[in-house]
Amino acid sequence: MKKYWLVGNWKMHGSLASNATLLNAIRERQPALSPYVDMVLCPAFPYIAQMASLVEGTGIQLGAQNASDHLQGAYTGETSPRMLKELGCGYVIIGHSERRIYQGENDGLMGRKALAAIDAGLIPIICVGETAEERDKSRTHEVLARQLDAAFGYIRTAHDQVIIAYEPIWAIGTGIAATPEIVQTEHAFLRSRVAQRDPSFAARMPIIYGGSVKPGNAASLFSMPDVDGGLIGSAALNAEDFVAIYQSLVKTCESRAD
Ligand code: 13P
Repeated sequence: MKKYWLVGNWKMHGSLASNATLLNAIRERQPALSPYVDMVLCPAFPYIAQMASLVEGTGIQLGAQNASDHLQGAYTGETSPRMLKELGCGYVIIGHSERRIYQGENDGLMGRKALAAIDAGLIPIICVGETAEERDKSRTHEVLARQLDAAFGYIRTAHDQVIIAYEPIWAIGTGIAATPEIVQTEHAFLRSRVAQRDPSFAARMPIIYGGSVKPGNAASLFSMPDVDGGLIGSAALNAEDFVAIYQSLVKTCESRAD
């Protein structure tokens, strides 16, 4: 059966105590994970080592929210993807819109970061998505194509593994998720764009959705054929909600025969 991913992006939240409490609450509600749905938690940088020891043996995997586009060197304040790998991360979120907006990250940097992450042995979760204004002006596909093409200028489809996250900026943290129809349309567009480079890579490339996913809308979003999981922000900070979303994804994938 095909694999699915549920990724919790904890953003700049948490503390030593609250991280442990949240993880315990998730584990109490979901003691065993589905072999078909990977659960990945992405805490803030200072807590990666803490979380690595807490998730050991649980099956829960670890990701970071960002990484440098360099593996080593005189880059004050940066974090190498190699260091994240050493600490136990398997994934790293690249090009999140909050980094594009607040840190001025651009498409080219995102591509270089994705490549550095891959070279360090991490799976990059590459975020793409349009603003409300771009959608209103019917520029969504132009924007998604530009962001995707920049990343795929660096990725070697013959052997690299990546996850694409479609995160429309207007749906992030607003409580208004994209409709399942919009999500399906854009995921299919992203897959077809990558298929122009490498059809077999595109067919197996996971595309997950992020933007106000909640227990109440998860099932309808996950039921779309090109949705391979979710990237969850605020609902990932609540164990009950996050586990409900996880279980909804498990149910969807079990009902599919692929
Ligand atoms: P919300 O789930 O809070 O909308 O955040 C989504 C997100 O940015 C995940 O990376």
